Amino acid sequence: MHTTNQPQLPATAHKAKKYEGPSFDEVMALRKKHLTPSLLTMYGKPIMIVEGHMQYLYDHTGKRYLDGLGGIATVGVGHCHPRVNKAMKDQLDTLQHATTIYLHPNIAEYARALTDTLPDELSVAYIVNSGSEANDLALTMARLYTGNYDIVALRNAYHGGVTTAMGLTAHGTWKYNVPQGFGVHHALVPDTYRGPFGRDDKDAGRKYADDVAQLIDMATPGQIAGFIAETIQGVGGVTVYPEDYLPRVYEKVRASGGVCIADEVQAGFGRTGTHFWGFQKYDVTPDIVVMAKSMGNGAPIAAVVTKPEIAQALTSRIHFNTFGGNPVSCAAGKAVLDVIHDEKLMQNAKKVGDHILKRVCGLMGKHDLIGDARGSGLMLGIEFVKDRETKAPASEETVAILERVKEMGLLMGKGGLRGNIIRIKPPMCMTIEDADFMVDCLDAAISEM
Ligand SMILES: Cc1ncc(COP(=O)(O)O)c(C=O)c1O
Repeated sequence: MHTTNQPQLPATAHKAKKYEGPSFDEVMALRKKHLTPSLLTMYGKPIMIVEGHMQYLYDHTGKRYLDGLGGIATVGVGHCHPRVNKAMKDQLDTLQHATTIYLHPNIAEYARALTDTLPDELSVAYIVNSGSEANDLALTMARLYTGNYDIVALRNAYHGGVTTAMGLTAHGTWKYNVPQGFGVHHALVPDTYRGPFGRDDKDAGRKYADDVAQLIDMATPGQIAGFIAETIQGVGGVTVYPEDYLPRVYEKVRASGGVCIADEVQAGFGRTGTHFWGFQKYDVTPDIVVMAKSMGNGAPIAAVVTKPEIAQALTSRIHFNTFGGNPVSCAAGKAVLDVIHDEKLMQNAKKVGDHILKRVCGLMGKHDLIGDARGSGLMLGIEFVKDRETKAPASEETVAILERVKEMGLLMGKGGLRGNIIRIKPPMCMTIEDADFMVDCLDAAISEM
């Protein structure tokens, strides 16, 4: 029996269509029979989402939810954004696919628009379909260009599910007992909440960077192919590094012959609110940037953007990608860039994200369960602990909160190795009223526990 007054979703003019497709039970039965059992669903009783409009989702019963996860940090500008959809539909009716063996204006114009968002030297894009694929390609480029083999990645990182990306990933939950991670060494994660060097240690950035230096000196021939890190860890639970960490690490990596790879799959495209790319917050310029997710607002598109001389390394043999850079995905990508700019979504991410963070930090005085709240823009994490001293992860409580807010009409994500971190990565069109609804739901759900 729930006793609190339930927060109310802000009003919307959108009217969801009546769902007339197969029933929930039929879909569940089909999924169980014909889809891989490795597909996860969230919630004790999963939900079936059949419609989306900007920051809202609708299930088959017509129930509306605020989408606090954005298709896992992917629907950056809003579900079924009219400009993105129009660009895709127009292109779909003209030419869906021909491959890059022929010229097409979309891929060329999109590559120019995309690289215009990056520092001048990062001027060449290889467009593919998914973040995992892009990370795999980035590693190949780094190794070919440097002639070196070893790669340094971070613990608590997630870089995808193909074998190379799984090898870069450092979360036991996502790693199978299969050959992977050749030449990959995992350094300490610069986590100032749980790691050995905390936020009160002014020297934390240097100390974490020293671990990378020691790893290179002791575990590799001293010459490496590269270093890869997300600019804010996503799946790992929104880990933000000390500001001097990446500059120090990049210096050591370059002195060891390696290139620096920024995985911007989650943090890119304005989500962090202060910068279009996450690496800009740390005032570094990577040699290779990997991007995906928000890039197509849900259309399958990803890219490796790098310097011409690094891209050149891939020409020693033929490399081909069937769907990569197809006209429809590129039309979506171009429209996404225009919408982020025209609707000032990065600025909105900052305004709304700051508001959420401020209010959640305010709740820390009321709820001991909240151990930490962190992040930037609309890439936020709330870490739940059973005890603020021991920081014992409150994993079951996190599940209960997610279930309860779902009933109230709020969908959120879960992260961290122990599943005790709520991840907030909504479409960047979310409003202050939505943000208040979100925090009110969290407050009510925690109060009920
Ligand atoms: C930081 C990061 N890199 C790479 C990937 C892999 O992307 P994809 O699922 O498109 O293969 C993900 C996916 O969640 C991610 O969060």
